[in-house]
Amino acid sequence: MCGIFWYKWKTHNIKDVLLTWLKRLEYRGYDSAGMAFLKKWEVKVVKALGKVANLEEKLRNITIDNSFEAGMAHTRWATHGGVTLENTHPHWDSGQSIFLVHNWIIENFKELKQELTKKGYSFYSQTDTEVIAKLLEDNKKDTLLKTVESVLPLLEGAYALLIFSKDFPDEMVAVRFGSPLVIGFNDQKEIFFSSDTQALAGFADKVIFLDDGDVVGVKGNDFVIKSNGKLISKAIEKIDVESLKAEKWDFPHYMLKEIFEQPEVLKNVFRGRVDFKSKTLHADAFRELDKLDIQRIVFIASWTSYHAWIVAARWFEDLVGLDTGVEIGSEFVYKNFKVKPTDLYVFISQSGETADSIEALKLVQAKGGKTFGIVNVVWSTIARVTDMGMFTRAGTEVGVASTKAFVAQLGTLLLVALYLAYKNGIAKPEFDKIIEDLAAIPTKIEEILYRENANIKDIAYQLVDYYNFFFLGRHYQLPIAMEGSLKFKEITYLHSEAYPAWELKHGPLALIDEKNPSILIAPNDLMLEHNISTLEEVRARKGKVVVITDSQAIKGDWNIKIPSTNRFLYPFLTVVVSQLLAYHAAQKLWREIDKPRNLAKSVTVK
Ligand code: AGP
Ligand code: GLU
Repeated sequence: MCGIFWYKWKTHNIKDVLLTWLKRLEYRGYDSAGMAFLKKWEVKVVKALGKVANLEEKLRNITIDNSFEAGMAHTRWATHGGVTLENTHPHWDSGQSIFLVHNWIIENFKELKQELTKKGYSFYSQTDTEVIAKLLEDNKKDTLLKTVESVLPLLEGAYALLIFSKDFPDEMVAVRFGSPLVIGFNDQKEIFFSSDTQALAGFADKVIFLDDGDVVGVKGNDFVIKSNGKLISKAIEKIDVESLKAEKWDFPHYMLKEIFEQPEVLKNVFRGRVDFKSKTLHADAFRELDKLDIQRIVFIASWTSYHAWIVAARWFEDLVGLDTGVEIGSEFVYKNFKVKPTDLYVFISQSGETADSIEALKLVQAKGGKTFGIVNVVWSTIARVTDMGMFTRAGTEVGVASTKAFVAQLGTLLLVALYLAYKNGIAKPEFDKIIEDLAAIPTKIEEILYRENANIKDIAYQLVDYYNFFFLGRHYQLPIAMEGSLKFKEITYLHSEAYPAWELKHGPLALIDEKNPSILIAPNDLMLEHNISTLEEVRARKGKVVVITDSQAIKGDWNIKIPSTNRFLYPFLTVVVSQLLAYHAAQKLWREIDKPRNLAKSVTVK
């Protein structure tokens, strides 16, 4: 994911420091990178698509000596504008005097761009970031800090900004609003700005963690911090540099790293979209939804994304009272379906390039259906062709077996369901409780990752002695059982099936015996009593059971504990357990986990 940095020359070569930091963030995935170097009345900009190594190559024959005052750098995860050099950061104003790098999203950039265009401004890129540069130009004051402070009230969304200008060569302004930013310090009295604390390891041993709304005005070697226009002071905190290095993410497989990224991914999904204090939701897409009278939501997707919408369909039914349609992309294209004006067709896809889903999308649009995309890869086909949508912001997902993209889909879909529920008159206390409990979900996932992972691994290592598995769940946990079964199949190559737990007696029970264990997903929700019956039913046939639960009332042959949460939110937790179960079993079997046999990350052909 995106990263921004600034360093003012003192003891290190600016280019080397910025390159070191960009490389430290490479593991997060991005699509391009760029730098700008400032000295009196001159700025040098270098940009490159793809890997940081490409930028490094370009920088090789550019001399950045100590005549340069400072430099800024950015790794981009495109949200507005394709992956092109024009869209790569840094961005600048018409006079090429103000330069900035930006993380995240300006939600109202379209209106701002229209206003500026009417005033005669032209744009070289498709980004929301360039709009900020033109706004600064349009509101120039007698200092850079005042210029920036005059523009911030115009911006909606989530952003971290670093800005400097040829007109104010000894100034730099940093802004944090909904996207991380820290100030680093060391005994050499150097000041560093970074969107990632870990990246500062070895440079800074003290930091100020900025808060949303903080504006930092650097002048020479001093700085001030302002919030709501008032000067404030903030504690300088010592950081344990060694621990920072220890946290360097050095996982054996991308899939495990991506499982562990999920708490951060969910925070990104919520960033700028959920105000947990006022319990309000904000997104450009919600304004589009406000214009529609939606009576039915039809979801179209493939496999993991298909499982995400089965969970989401329950949320739309339970929280919004909407009728929902359930279609697998590859089957939907054979249907003789009718499109009603009050239908909304939602296409969920990590890659945005799945052929089945694209074909279904074209059929729906040919019949005049309104389409909404829930997509991870920005500027993918589905993201561009759907009428509206929201990005899932999971960052690059490398593992073929999808994990963080699934959780990001759930998070994004839940925000849409909650927004429509709020409009539809959901009881405020229930709405507020869900939002409140949602805020704790990233931490509860961390509890599973850091407290339960060893137990899950131990159980997984025992399961590999068996060959057939049944994943069982009810209601919200049925799609999680399906997703868990898919993960298991995909990377262990062992056979598994998912069933609605009640359905066992209609046939599959014949398969249950001591050789074929079941994984019963039984959180303490409305289905608990039924799940206890299922447990007894399976064990009466000598079937062994792994129980995933937060309840004391149900005990299996193996037991995996999850934290308790709101009954609507258990899927975020139970799916993490099923991901880890599959991962550890596959690792025990020495499988090629990130690239399982016969599979592709994106099925772009029929
Ligand atoms: C998930 O683990 C699989 N890799 C695969 O089923 C995937 O979910 C499916 O191909 C849909 O892909 P999409 O989300 O990119 O459309
Ligand atoms: N919204 C900006 C862009 O698309 C910044 C994206 C990012 O965070 O990298 O360029």
